[in-house]
Amino acid sequence: MLDIKDAVAVITGGASGIGLAVAKYWLQKGGKVVLGDIAEDALEQAAADMNGDVVTVVCNVTQEDDCAKLADTAIERFGQINLVAPFAGIIMDGLMLSPDRDTGKVTRKMSLEQFQRVVDINLTGVFLTIRECTERMINHNCRGLVCLVSSTGSLGTAGQINYSATKAAVSVMPKVLTAEFFRRGLGNMIRCVAIAPGYVATPILEGMNQKALEKILTNVPIGRLIATEEVASLVCELYQNEALAGDVFFIHGGLRLGSKG
Ligand SMILES: NC(=O)c1ccc[n+]([C@@H]2O[C@H](COP(=O)([O-])OP(=O)(O)OC[C@H]3O[C@@H](n4cnc5c(N)ncnc54)[C@H](O)[C@@H]3O)[C@@H](O)[C@H]2O)c1
Repeated sequence: MLDIKDAVAVITGGASGIGLAVAKYWLQKGGKVVLGDIAEDALEQAAADMNGDVVTVVCNVTQEDDCAKLADTAIERFGQINLVAPFAGIIMDGLMLSPDRDTGKVTRKMSLEQFQRVVDINLTGVFLTIRECTERMINHNCRGLVCLVSSTGSLGTAGQINYSATKAAVSVMPKVLTAEFFRRGLGNMIRCVAIAPGYVATPILEGMNQKALEKILTNVPIGRLIATEEVASLVCELYQNEALAGDVFFIHGGLRLGSKG
């Protein structure tokens, strides 16, 4: 089992929601945190509300230099990286094509920008963050975990062709990285997993169609949104338990999975 005390977590999307909750949970257990986010004011506010060893880095995860700066900061300030949590993410929901109910002809379609922006942050941003962090983990002999965040949306949710596609892609990364690190004799040093939450009470849900969200919640057996602390607790368990590697762990309160159209 790994101990969180004095271990260093690099968390993107750390100014809000799940990333923020993981940071707080990690600090409570005696760990140290490098908190990255593009939202400068929210990031400073988040750090001001925390007790413990926290360093903030304003970073846009779509930029290579920013991700390198994030990882370098962890090494310079704390000498190691043990948890990589690339949790920065967005949604920009919409149907790919919207035919008019009366004429049957398409009146609206998802723009290239709407598709690519989600890919840039949720997929390319994750790639850059984990590449830069694990490079330093290897070069500094760090033991720990890359914990990605997929989603139940990875199974395919109507209105989220952009988001679902990125989360499905993220879901395959633990298998790829576990195999790659194993091949290089690093399998016992750096593990990789993903969590796949259902609907968690964070600001990201404000971007969803609220009627659709209400309807979805009627299909959640626990009858409520997941709390961010519940997700943070899972991330910390995945970090500590070294038997867990290469897989995707769902946390959705029993949600009936799959889109019903
Ligand atoms: N909330 C949910 O129901 C839910 C469910 C499944 C998966 N997730 C995933 O969890 C992750 C965190 O989501 P959340 O619910 O905490 O959302 P959130 O909106 O509360 O937090 C996301 C954070 O990412 C930051 N961010 C956005 N673009 C960025 C960029 N280019 N560079 C750096 N930071 C950037 C935002 O400023 C924000 O602080 C996301 O990847 C999301 O897809 C969330």
